[in-house]
Amino acid sequence: MTLISTWGEVLQRHFAIIGHDAPGTGELFLNNLAGGSGRVDVLARAVNTALFISHGIRTDSTITIHLMGGEIPRRVKFDGKILRGVHPDERSISGHIRSIMKNPVPPIGIWQEASVGVLHSGGDVEETLIEWDREGVIAHILDTEGEELESEGSSSMGFVLSDHLPFTDEESVVLKGYQKVSLGSAWLQGHVCIAIVHHILDD
Ligand SMILES: C[S@@+](CC[C@H](N)C(=O)[O-])C[C@H]1O[C@@H](n2cnc3c(N)ncnc32)[C@H](O)[C@@H]1O
Repeated sequence: MTLISTWGEVLQRHFAIIGHDAPGTGELFLNNLAGGSGRVDVLARAVNTALFISHGIRTDSTITIHLMGGEIPRRVKFDGKILRGVHPDERSISGHIRSIMKNPVPPIGIWQEASVGVLHSGGDVEETLIEWDREGVIAHILDTEGEELESEGSSSMGFVLSDHLPFTDEESVVLKGYQKVSLGSAWLQGHVCIAIVHHILDD
């Protein structure tokens, strides 16, 4: 499962998914994730696919979900290297998000630990890209109109994807300039894209 880069380092994967309608504050209805909760089900499936394998957790991967549907944007990061107590089902993952939503949104760029391997901060995808850049993560944008995915030359790769909605105009401005990666001409569900990225990088 561990891919070694051309420089002999373990290849790290980072995913960032934007939840346009998912609230970062207020209430989350675990019995209605797909309806009344801003499609948190989509984000939970992305977390599942990014971090869980059949019998374990991908220690080389993180995923940051962007909860943009409330008054204040909040980001929640799941770090596979240290993650504990999260189970690979939508309800468990969403339960963690629900607990975090009861807390105030931390200042932008300040990551507060909610539980082991689950952190939250203020900010949006622009802040995530700034942080990735600082950490040496080479960012890519998942889009049907892009290049084929290649891992050569990177030790740390980041992938930005949207939820059920297209990127907004403001986001498109922020994402402009980063390399677009296509996984084919058909629009796929986000968690499927994450699975394909893992498949390509695992080989
Ligand atoms: C369900 S799709 C979003 C579809 C939405 N209607 C749109 O027009 O963007 C979720 C995200 O997965 C990624 N994605 C879907 N299909 C893809 C593909 N074939 N290649 C690369 N990325 C893809 C994109 O980031 C997309 O925003």
